[in-house]
Amino acid sequence: MDRLVKPRVINLKRLPEEAGRLLTEFCDVLDVDLDEKSPEGRARLLELLGDADGLLQSDARIDKELLDKAPRLKVVSNVSVGYNNFDTEAMRERGVTGTHTPYVLDDTVADLIFALILSAARRVPELDRLVKQGEWGREGSKAEDHFGIDVHHATIGIVGMGRIGERVAKRAALGFGMNVLYHNRSRKSHAEEAYGARCVSLDELLAKSDYVVLLAPLTPETRGLFGAEQFDTMKSTAIFVNASRGPLVNEAALVEALRGGRIRAAALDVYESEPVAADHPLLRLPNVVTLPHIGSATAKTRFDMAVTAANNLIGGLLGDRKIYVVPELRRDSKE
Ligand code: DGY
Repeated sequence: MDRLVKPRVINLKRLPEEAGRLLTEFCDVLDVDLDEKSPEGRARLLELLGDADGLLQSDARIDKELLDKAPRLKVVSNVSVGYNNFDTEAMRERGVTGTHTPYVLDDTVADLIFALILSAARRVPELDRLVKQGEWGREGSKAEDHFGIDVHHATIGIVGMGRIGERVAKRAALGFGMNVLYHNRSRKSHAEEAYGARCVSLDELLAKSDYVVLLAPLTPETRGLFGAEQFDTMKSTAIFVNASRGPLVNEAALVEALRGGRIRAAALDVYESEPVAADHPLLRLPNVVTLPHIGSATAKTRFDMAVTAANNLIGGLLGDRKIYVVPELRRDSKE
């Protein structure tokens, strides 16, 4: 790339000042506010990409249709660790680099998973509403129908033991004295040694866990991983937590499992379709805790993600710094 001419990049994110400054130092940046999920937003994005070298964003689908309209595109930088919006095969064919923001959010997401676990176990949102509505009642904390279940010393099953899974295992074992089971493509010796985690089949994990935490990435193989069969295999007292991606779960089956008492409760940060529809049946169930996909949303972590994503875009275009290329698009396993 000609170093005298700055690469042209499209930025779809509202960035903190430092990340914005970093980008404009090295790139000719066009900041655009559009909704990629709407047909109009998508059409405008494809039009803008006609002469762009780079794109910084979170969830635009990077597929053949988009790549056909973006002949100069070299790098797409996601401000997220997840990259299920990338068609990695199509990107590899066109030589387009895809980057993401691992590491900086691991502890923040693991904290949120415990917020979900504790909220569902101790029914925090439900009882908060009750107090605020003046329905505490004479029985107060003695009322059995306000009881929750313990988190400490229970069994947690982590489906997808990546970096975030390990941070969850650490909190579970060292903080809450929990017994840790996990299911993953490969064994995680550090988690086994440090947290006593035990690698088991998915069925064993489902049958034995009091808390089932879904943390697997969304891929063609994991789409729909949780359906009626998996909820039926879980204990009827178990709590299901999803903070990865919604389409790993068949939501209709989850609603049925919750309604029928086949599992105790669910705590969700992600949904099949986001934002979740206001009339979605999940939102009507008292035994469901819901959050609006905020796993990584603390000021510091979102700042670090934005700076990492800006560096990824610059480094991918100029080749002057370390970047985080997504695993499927790495040329060198050390990248
Ligand atoms: C991620 O980074 O993938 C999280 O889901 C937050 O968007």
